[in-house]
Amino acid sequence: MKIIMLGAPGAGKGTQAKQIAAKYEIPHISTGDIFRANLKNGTELGKKAKVYMDQGLLVPDELTCDLVMDRIAQEDCARGFVLDGFPRTILQAEALTKALNNIGQAMDYAIDVDVPDENIVNRMSGRRACLNCGSTYHIVYNPTKTEGVCDVCGSQTVLREDDKPETVQKRLAVYHEQTQPLIDYYKKQNILKTVDGTKSMDEVFSDIVAILGE
Ligand code: AP5
Ligand code: MG
Ligand code: ZN
Repeated sequence: MKIIMLGAPGAGKGTQAKQIAAKYEIPHISTGDIFRANLKNGTELGKKAKVYMDQGLLVPDELTCDLVMDRIAQEDCARGFVLDGFPRTILQAEALTKALNNIGQAMDYAIDVDVPDENIVNRMSGRRACLNCGSTYHIVYNPTKTEGVCDVCGSQTVLREDDKPETVQKRLAVYHEQTQPLIDYYKKQNILKTVDGTKSMDEVFSDIVAILGE
């Protein structure tokens, strides 16, 4: 099963993608997590990506596309994968369609987690992220068992650099301009499904399972 998670920053793509990956036993591929891991490890890619991420801008397509194409060509993706944060531009979507076409494949679902802008800023300011394993928490809606410590790996959880309200506004504007057009793109490919992302995390996940099947 090959799934794309669409949605504004903070809509819950990562939260849902992690659960999808666990239930359907497919890898969770988050470009944001990959960039943050590179940044943490001090790689060239990480340094380049940081300049854009800190401003709430998209990392250029040429730094992003090859990375994802290499990842989905790996052995563990043979049974499918869930993409979180990619594609984010029409150019990225076209590159993905083409790469899969070349091997006689196509994406199965694009799930749009729909959350209005008003709800987003509040979610982001309460988010805490583990930069080691990519787990995401919320101080109110999904707290860690011990404050500031990741439940999964024991590392420290932090407020992401790009979760400051000004940067969140910029990311939302970039989303509407560059990523929202993908909703139409996948509607035309007949694989678009929309879920109401304002419901609780468990309800959103049930709605997704109803689409993907038990
Ligand atoms: P990325 O890391 O992908 O950030 P994003 O798309 O802005 O999305 P987020 O991770 O912020 O939100 P999410 O939808 O995953 O929400 P989450 O589940 O955490 O990208 C970061 C940057 O990297 C980009 O700005 C760009 O610079 C670069 N980048 C990445 N991919 C790129 C690409 N393809 N091309 C170019 N550049 C790229 O949930 C948010 C919070 O809400 C959490 O605290 C969570 O606990 C809580 N929450 C979730 N669901 C619910 C719910 N139902 N009810 C209540 N709270 C909830
Ligand atoms: Mg995320
Ligand atoms: Zn962790």
